[in-house]
Amino acid sequence: MVSQIRFLMCAPDHYDVDYVINPWMEGNIHKSSRDRAVEQWNKLYNVIKNHAIVDLVAPEKGWPDMVFSANAGLVLGENVVLSRFLHKERQGEEPYFQQWFENNGFNVYTLPKDLPFEGAGDALLDREGRWLWAGYGFRSELDSHPYLAKWLDIEVISLRLMDERFYHLDTCFCPLANGYLLYYPGAFDSYSNRVIEMRVAPEKRIAIEEADAVNFACNAVNIESIVIMNKASDNLKSRLAEVGFQVIETPLTEFLKAGGAAKCLTLRVTEPIGEEIHANVSVESRVIRMEGHLLDAGLINRALDLIVEMGGSFQVLKFNLGEQRQSTSAAEVRVSAPSHDVMEEIISQLIDLGAVDLPQDERDSKLEPVVQAGVAPDDFYVSTIYPTEIRVNGEWLKVQNQRMDGAIAISQTPNGIVAKCKLLRDLEIGDRVVVDVLGIRTVRKAESREQRNSQEFSFMSSGVSSERRVELVVEQVAWELRKIKDSGGKVVVTAGPVVIHTGGGEHLSRLIREGYVQGLLGGNAIAVHDMEQNLLGTSLGVDMKRGVAVRGGHRHHLKIINTIRRFGSIAKAVEAGVVKSGVMYECVKNNIPFSLAGSIRDDGPLPDTQMNLILAQQEYSQIIQGADMILMLSSMLHSIGVGNMTPAGVRMVCVDINPAVVTKLSDRGSIESVGVVTDVGLFLSLLIQQLDKLTSPYVANVG
Ligand code: ARG
Repeated sequence: MVSQIRFLMCAPDHYDVDYVINPWMEGNIHKSSRDRAVEQWNKLYNVIKNHAIVDLVAPEKGWPDMVFSANAGLVLGENVVLSRFLHKERQGEEPYFQQWFENNGFNVYTLPKDLPFEGAGDALLDREGRWLWAGYGFRSELDSHPYLAKWLDIEVISLRLMDERFYHLDTCFCPLANGYLLYYPGAFDSYSNRVIEMRVAPEKRIAIEEADAVNFACNAVNIESIVIMNKASDNLKSRLAEVGFQVIETPLTEFLKAGGAAKCLTLRVTEPIGEEIHANVSVESRVIRMEGHLLDAGLINRALDLIVEMGGSFQVLKFNLGEQRQSTSAAEVRVSAPSHDVMEEIISQLIDLGAVDLPQDERDSKLEPVVQAGVAPDDFYVSTIYPTEIRVNGEWLKVQNQRMDGAIAISQTPNGIVAKCKLLRDLEIGDRVVVDVLGIRTVRKAESREQRNSQEFSFMSSGVSSERRVELVVEQVAWELRKIKDSGGKVVVTAGPVVIHTGGGEHLSRLIREGYVQGLLGGNAIAVHDMEQNLLGTSLGVDMKRGVAVRGGHRHHLKIINTIRRFGSIAKAVEAGVVKSGVMYECVKNNIPFSLAGSIRDDGPLPDTQMNLILAQQEYSQIIQGADMILMLSSMLHSIGVGNMTPAGVRMVCVDINPAVVTKLSDRGSIESVGVVTDVGLFLSLLIQQLDKLTSPYVANVG
């Protein structure tokens, strides 16, 4: 029985693979057989004709892909949104398709130029007419979706394609009758998969394997209970049969060489309109402004890349290029996202790059009250290391206690409204917390190029060093330490036990003694092994002079712990004259505050070790308060913990033999952190030598 459903097809008279605009075409230029293509196309044509009416549009010479009539446009009722092809190779098809639609009484909408959209290849109606699924990511632009919604008066659900083999939505997604959906989840990003799962009940989803997907099983024509496709595995056929669909296979291998199959070769031109259905899009857009050394500092690339990577899209509305070396650039960018959630994620990252609203779009921050102590509202804005301001009652307010991974809480104090970064556990009922991403900006001074280049660490901003770079870092760090000391600044060291095992203990002791260190952070181990070495000459039982294990040495560190426990604290053991040298000794003698944070693997612990980790975090954050530089010496957890508490603007030097630790810490996206992959004992010894050079009086070397 032939239904009243109509399809538009275009005979393959001029079909060939002439160019490469998708991965299937690679290596296939002029490799398809005309005869076989004609034969396969005729077969498909006849199969469809048995079930529906087929209209034809005349093929045009020079437009080999015109056979893929799915890309003519998107039809709903008597309205058509004409395709705007992304590639110039296909743009010449547009007028022919337009002509056909107009001749056949359709109302044709055309998109603004430079806004690609490839018709029914990228937009598929739910077969119940409830909504339109629209793809983006390769051929169609997200910003075309609001036009579809408006012109066709239908809800549009945007899906992002991630796998370039499935560059059109119809290559991996096929809504079927009765609300079923045949699709290949691997072609979509996880957000889109979630959207699909929210709309289509599990028993209605027929997710296929890659093997079927690459045979274009989703590129199927569904006419009531019939599904026409190139090829399907037995398993897929039986799964479809179980839910009442009959698969008709018709080989289309010649067209696969151009990246198309059954669905691509047809355009359904009778698409019924659901009665109660109306326009609705979740696509949002927002205009942001950025200023600074957008090109030199790579800021604009980072911004645009992250928008796309996170599933959004952009249009650069203005770009004022600073022409002089010193001058800054300014850009206005329209950001689009498939939903508010995605928009929030994108904007929060753009805020870190310094993006702000246009003055006329500025809004107050959105605040929500804390209703359970220690728990933020769901949608809370997660703070970063960058100096942040939020807008309250039309005024920008500086956020205090800047640190990452907190919430921004507002409270009313006698001196007015105060905004603070707070850890989740510190939130109190009555605090109001910033949610969403409105009215938030980070403040960065656009330093001049010259300034940036003279910043101490700029020559090696981020990145991991080779041998020469170790020396360069040492020279720079020595210079900085010296400067900070002279100006009465503050240097904090985090250190792991490796400092002692590698023989760095004496050097670190000297740094403390000579006033280069104003705070020490570590765990139980650094203190234990430091005192073990100074009392017993071993570090974890290894003789530090000879480098060999001492008999019974594995008990040494327990003896030390026991001794210190007897005195009640490290300071008391120092006073009693039991500990006479070393890192801990120097701390006590020079009144350098230290904090030892405990862990599950600690022996003892020492009486000084803080086993309450919340208190330990508090002690740490007190000690780093006001630091100018933090030297992180081979202690992964303590260093990362410190990194999290430290606002931007504090110099960080991370020394570790493990490149992963160094990368993690020097990756703060700022010029102020530097990482060195090297032995920490060696590093400290070079550092001391360099400091000696800097501080010893200049002696002319005359021959
Ligand atoms: N070679 C064509 C292109 O890359 C194939 C189009 C397939 N059509 C489709 N609706 N998926 O544009």
